[in-house]
Amino acid sequence: MRLAGKRVLVTGASQGIGAAAASRYAERGAHVLLVARSAEGLKRQVERITEFGGSAEAITADLANADEIRSLGESVEAPDVLVNNAGIGRWLFLDDTSPDELQQMTAVPYQAALLLTRAFLGDMRERGSGWIVNVNSPVSRLPIPGATGYASARWALRGLTASLRLDLRGTGVGISEVVPGKVSSQYFENNPGAEERIPRIAKLIPTVTPDRVADAMVAAVEKEKAEIHLPWQLKAFELSGRIFPGLTSYLTWKTGTHR
Ligand SMILES: NC(=O)c1ccc[n+]([C@@H]2O[C@H](COP(=O)([O-])OP(=O)(O)OC[C@H]3O[C@@H](n4cnc5c(N)ncnc54)[C@H](OP(=O)(O)O)[C@@H]3O)[C@@H](O)[C@H]2O)c1
Repeated sequence: MRLAGKRVLVTGASQGIGAAAASRYAERGAHVLLVARSAEGLKRQVERITEFGGSAEAITADLANADEIRSLGESVEAPDVLVNNAGIGRWLFLDDTSPDELQQMTAVPYQAALLLTRAFLGDMRERGSGWIVNVNSPVSRLPIPGATGYASARWALRGLTASLRLDLRGTGVGISEVVPGKVSSQYFENNPGAEERIPRIAKLIPTVTPDRVADAMVAAVEKEKAEIHLPWQLKAFELSGRIFPGLTSYLTWKTGTHR
């Protein structure tokens, strides 16, 4: 899909990957709707985009709240491209995670992506065109030790992407999953304790910048790609998980966190 003149809605766009992606879509000539909770953060990103001549607007919403998603769906015309990027989640053993925190990390990204996609899907299908991009984590393929709630939410997001892809065949609406390895955003400051739980074996995979992930998110739409994993070392690791599942999961466990 060509991005010029299209409306692109990006969740989690107040910082990090979402903010970088919003800029990239705007550089391609799209009008970008940036969604997050922080009005201040969104304002900064909209200013950054308008400074270089891009077109953008901010929408403040808490996507962990189903009512706020419903009113977003009612007040905003369905975009041409929906980017489900907002996500949180500390990495914790299941019995160390409070039920409230488990609900939060399931609400965003998984339920937010599910409900927001549902809110816009009817109109996209009626128009016979549209694209959805879900940003996911490598733990949606290879779980790591000590992050059960986080990993479950990411597998759910992967399931949503895969099952929706089947239902969208022949409708003119498509869906991509972009899966980056470790990204140099503020994710690990925002979700303390997670960085320490990255298994040592994953340190073989270089960290990528939010801008590099944003380039992949643009390519996902323009080239209508089903999946993009980056960097290539992550793709190799993911492949090894499919070819040698026992060995890969043993190495992840062995070099990961233990109680
Ligand atoms: N960083 C990594 O290493 C990495 C790797 C793979 C995948 N990912 C995934 O990529 C996505 C973006 O991550 P990031 O690295 O850019 O993280 P980040 O810097 O922590 O940004 C997260 C974004 O999500 C928004 N958000 C969180 N909760 C929200 C809510 N309830 N309602 C609306 N917006 C909410 C935040 O905005 P507000 O706080 O303003 O609401 C922020 O804009 C996440 O899904 C993350 O899991 C990250």
